[in-house]
Amino acid sequence: MTNQFYVAVIGAGPAGLFAARELANLGARVVIFNRDIKPGGLAEYGIYPNKHTMKNGLRKQFKQVMDLPNLTYYGNVTIGEKADLTLNDLRELGFQAILVTAGAQGTKWLGLPGENLTGVYHAKDVVYFYNKLPPYSQQSFRFGKRCAVIGAGNVMLDIVHFLSREEKVDEVTAVVRRGPAEVKFDKKEMEYVIDNLDQAELDAEIRRVRPIMEAVHQDPEAARASILEALPKALPKVSNTKFRFEFLASPVQMLGDAEGCLTQVEIEDNILVEANGDTKAKGTGNKRQLDVETVVFAIGDKVDEAFGLPTEWNEFVKSQTPRFPIDGISYESPIEDVFVGGWSRKASSGLVGLARKDGTNASKAVWQYLQTKHPMEVNTEALSSKLKGLAEPLVLKEHIKKLDEIELAQAKQLGLEVFKYDSNDEMLKVMGLLEYEKA
Ligand SMILES: Cc1cc2nc3c(=O)[nH]c(=O)nc-3n(C[C@H](O)[C@H](O)[C@H](O)COP(=O)(O)OP(=O)(O)OC[C@H]3O[C@@H](n4cnc5c(N)ncnc54)[C@H](O)[C@@H]3O)c2cc1C
Ligand SMILES: NC(=O)c1ccc[n+]([C@@H]2O[C@H](COP(=O)([O-])OP(=O)(O)OC[C@H]3O[C@@H](n4cnc5c(N)ncnc54)[C@H](OP(=O)(O)O)[C@@H]3O)[C@@H](O)[C@H]2O)c1
Repeated sequence: MTNQFYVAVIGAGPAGLFAARELANLGARVVIFNRDIKPGGLAEYGIYPNKHTMKNGLRKQFKQVMDLPNLTYYGNVTIGEKADLTLNDLRELGFQAILVTAGAQGTKWLGLPGENLTGVYHAKDVVYFYNKLPPYSQQSFRFGKRCAVIGAGNVMLDIVHFLSREEKVDEVTAVVRRGPAEVKFDKKEMEYVIDNLDQAELDAEIRRVRPIMEAVHQDPEAARASILEALPKALPKVSNTKFRFEFLASPVQMLGDAEGCLTQVEIEDNILVEANGDTKAKGTGNKRQLDVETVVFAIGDKVDEAFGLPTEWNEFVKSQTPRFPIDGISYESPIEDVFVGGWSRKASSGLVGLARKDGTNASKAVWQYLQTKHPMEVNTEALSSKLKGLAEPLVLKEHIKKLDEIELAQAKQLGLEVFKYDSNDEMLKVMGLLEYEKA
């Protein structure tokens, strides 16, 4: 047996899978631990379900990674302070380096009154729900006739897409803390929902905020044109949902009825102030209420604070003096053998391609670190016996292959583009793993 470097990769989203591929190709022995049964992360459970070409293309690439001989996959295993295995467990099991690519699993609540009311959600939970990720797929959500989505990014548009094309609610209002010139979404994503956009209301809203924009030298007409750029390729609407914007407004509290159900979101009007070449929203003190039964916060995510790594703001702390910077970026936690990549390095930033690049770069930093160690005779027995003691069944590469085949056959039989089991029990059952749990 040849000696190898032994690396644990936590998380099988795009960052983790491409990082694992890089390390395996370099000759390391890689073990991936993934919380979800299936690999893919947000590529499987975040990207809008109808983007079949993109999702299938990524699934194909992920399959190739999973087939690498130097790579072991353990799905249905969570790493963390109070999880199946801790970072220390991994160290004790002989891993020489740990790469954390667990995404940004924390929830960025703003600490506003009323966040616990029924009808108030975070986008990640809704996205996981409609993409059928257990246990979110099993939760019940209250999507009322009137909904507000906080934020102006692509995730906001994904939620509007879902509420207008699937839930077919009466009205969706995007509540945007800055103005029409600072929206972050892409034209392509707007194509799905722009036919539902009330253009007269958009014009009125731009007229309302024009003096505030002009005070910071912004061009309201250019912002309007940019928002409407998707019109020529608008997908015909399938509901009468009215999509509208409330610009320069921040939520301050959510109000509910005696049953604890949301009835209103209170918003405060903002002005724009110039700051370091950008703009900032500043509250005016003027408050208004919107009648809504649902509020979804689409304001980005933060990393999981309970994971076992120090955090600062929304992210894991990175070493400010990295030993192995890649393109000037630190992929190192303050702990010697722990590295971070993808959304675990920079929460909610960029597309799959960026996560792939970031994971690959993180693995390069890991590889450089490993050159300061000696390759070892990898003994996986200790790991195997530790994993046998876990409460939940372990999901291996061959199980994922079986699940893929069964879901593909189901989709064919039902005439669907894609079929997904939406509970862990169902997936474990068809993979033949449920009896293991009972044993
Ligand atoms: C709603 C939404 C829609 C998007 N749509 C697009 C799109 O259309 N096109 C595009 O290019 N990009 C899109 N993106 C961005 C893209 O999904 C991300 O850039 C990318 O998935 C980030 O990859 P990652 O590997 O860092 O994290 P993730 O994809 O989040 O993967 C994290 C992985 O870690 C696992 N994990 C989490 N915690 C633990 C733990 N404690 N222990 C073990 N495993 C753990 C999870 O199970 C998961 O498999 C979208 C993002 C969102 C939120
Ligand atoms: N189809 C796609 O390609 C697709 C789909 C979904 C997601 N993604 C990608 O995934 C990443 C994350 O997307 P995202 O939409 O979550 O993030 P995002 O693009 O950063 O947008 C977040 C939005 O939330 C607002 N916001 C943040 N904090 C706020 C607060 N405290 N109060 C009010 N508003 C607040 C931001 O406003 P400010 O600008 O004022 O900060 C911004 O409008 C992005 O790179 C995105 O492109 C891509």
